[in-house]
Amino acid sequence: MRFCIAVFVLCATWPPALSVTRYSIPEEKERGSVVANLAADLGLEPGGLAQREVKLDIFSNKKYLDFNKKTGELYIVEKMDREYLCPAKPASCFLKLDVIIEKILDMNDNAPQFRRDAIHLDISEATARGERFSLSNAVDPDVGSNSVKTYHLSESEYFNIEVQTGRDGTKFADLILKQTLDREQQAVHNLILTAIDGGTPARSGTASVIVHVLDTNDNPPTFEKENLSVKILENSPIGSLVIDLNATDLDEGSNSDITYSYSLYTSEKTQETFNLNPATGEITVKGMLNYEDFRIYDMEVIATDKGANSLSGQCTIKILVEDMNDNHPEISIKSFQSPVTENIELETVIAVVSVSDKDSGDNGIVDLHIPDNMPFKLRESSDNYYELVVSEPLDREKVPEYDITFTVTDRGSPPLSDNETMSLELLDVNDNVPQFPQSFYTIRVMENNAPGALLSSLTAFDPDLHENQYLVYFIIEKEIANTSMSMLFSINPENGNLYALKTFDYEIEKEFLFHIEARDSGSPPLSSNMTVHIIITAVKAYSDMTEEPLEYDIFSDINLYLVIGAPLSSCC
Ligand SMILES: *[C@@H]1O[C@H](CO)[C@@H](O)[C@H](O)[C@H]1NC(C)=O
Ligand SMILES: *[C@@H]1O[C@H](CO)[C@@H](O)[C@H](O)[C@H]1NC(C)=O
Ligand SMILES: *[C@@H]1O[C@H](CO)[C@@H](O)[C@H](O)[C@H]1NC(C)=O
Ligand SMILES: *[C@@H]1O[C@H](CO)[C@@H](O)[C@H](O)[C@H]1NC(C)=O
Ligand SMILES: *[C@@H]1O[C@H](CO)[C@@H](O)[C@H](O)[C@H]1NC(C)=O
Repeated sequence: MRFCIAVFVLCATWPPALSVTRYSIPEEKERGSVVANLAADLGLEPGGLAQREVKLDIFSNKKYLDFNKKTGELYIVEKMDREYLCPAKPASCFLKLDVIIEKILDMNDNAPQFRRDAIHLDISEATARGERFSLSNAVDPDVGSNSVKTYHLSESEYFNIEVQTGRDGTKFADLILKQTLDREQQAVHNLILTAIDGGTPARSGTASVIVHVLDTNDNPPTFEKENLSVKILENSPIGSLVIDLNATDLDEGSNSDITYSYSLYTSEKTQETFNLNPATGEITVKGMLNYEDFRIYDMEVIATDKGANSLSGQCTIKILVEDMNDNHPEISIKSFQSPVTENIELETVIAVVSVSDKDSGDNGIVDLHIPDNMPFKLRESSDNYYELVVSEPLDREKVPEYDITFTVTDRGSPPLSDNETMSLELLDVNDNVPQFPQSFYTIRVMENNAPGALLSSLTAFDPDLHENQYLVYFIIEKEIANTSMSMLFSINPENGNLYALKTFDYEIEKEFLFHIEARDSGSPPLSSNMTVHIIITAVKAYSDMTEEPLEYDIFSDINLYLVIGAPLSSCC
């Protein structure tokens, strides 16, 4: 006797949706006997049922059959009782068994996973808004609603994502540029892409999206200052650094490599005077700098980058040449009066001197000096004009000539100076009277002197010059005794030699007193006098011996001098 078991397999999602399988089981089958392999009969892998919830629904009061989830075998749990199951005793007895196989029991035990942890993207900063970039999708071994459902991107000003569904239902994300990039502001954007599955609770996996912004030449070189002003000392050696221009370009690579050049605005002269290093932007001295020739150089420098569409920036530089004390002050004697008479009046202008210095500032301010202890002083008459005036009386007899050195000194550091020496010659005026060494002179003459004997030389001295110094001597005819002295004595008017004209006798005359005057030839003449006292001495022992005293010089002739032109009543 056999039982027939109609097995209805119901499965909502599993094809077939409904199938009917019949098994025939002998009545005497023992407990534990395998009826059939349900899994194999349903076309499932052995163990394929393990993942699914399978429910056996037997329309009977007893549970005769059970099912091994692992092997898929349907086996007998209790001996079947035909009388109980089929009391009408039909030819065949049916037992209805519903096998309800539920959908796969997915535990959502897998999280979505990206193939790589980091997704690198290079995006040019020139890329337009709205551009899309595919991101590699995440995979989730789970199925159905437990597979990747959506993606999420970390907060970003520049990017968002759009989740797309592929033909096979896989989900992937496109990265979309929301706003144009600026490498100079942010060169790298770090984003986190999260894939989320549809499980409950949802699982997720992340990958970092690293966007490298590629440079475009969108920044021109710029100078820190558009207008610069630099000072440089004149005579700075060739090669001296004037300024180091540092233009900067925010781009990178060749887009930020800068070359410097002069613009057409920069004059030839400026370009010849200053060297511009095209690579470094250093401006150095190339030619001679002379403040007195040229003081301000204007230039314009262009900085150009080496990008494909090169951009440039410019700056103007004003180079101010500073004065150095390199010019000696100069003296120019405008007038100089020489000779001058020694009796020149005080404050009389002797010279007019002008001074100058090509430098500027203190380097060009000059002071004029003459040595101290000179009877002159300088008086500024107008700007840089000076007068040399007499400040003290002059005396040719003391200082006949002055070498006056004018020294001009500027106020530079160190100061420079120049000097010029002028000679001032003094002309004599008859301001000195002749001077006898003594005002009273005693001459002893032995009696019996020879007529014409030289008694003495009575010379005076006059420190003046020339005719002011030429002296004439004569005897002042003034009665001391009632005799004319000119009859007794003679003086050489040129040299003051005094002679006796006659032989004196001590017994008759013992002494004479008279004045001798020395007069210079100046105009008017000056004179002075001296008193001469002649004392006749007696010859005692010799009176017997000889007529002629031995000690007298013998003169061959007697000189008589005639002074002409002297307005003297006593003369001749
Ligand atoms: C630089 O100088 C130019 C002309 O001398 C002038 O037009 C410009 O405004 C100046 N720029 C600055 C920043 O001072
Ligand atoms: C340029 O840079 C150099 C070195 O950093 C510095 O010495 C110089 O002063 C800079 N030049 C200007 C004009 O700023
Ligand atoms: C005048 O100048 C010369 C050089 O020109 C110098 O040797 C001399 O010392 C100067 N004299 C004075 C008084 O300054
Ligand atoms: C001086 O001489 C004059 C004549 O020449 C004479 O008259 C007079 O007496 C004299 N006097 C004396 C003091 O000798
Ligand atoms: C001699 O000189 C003095 C002054 O030195 C003068 O007073 C005097 O009158 C002069 N004598 C004669 C005789 O000229």
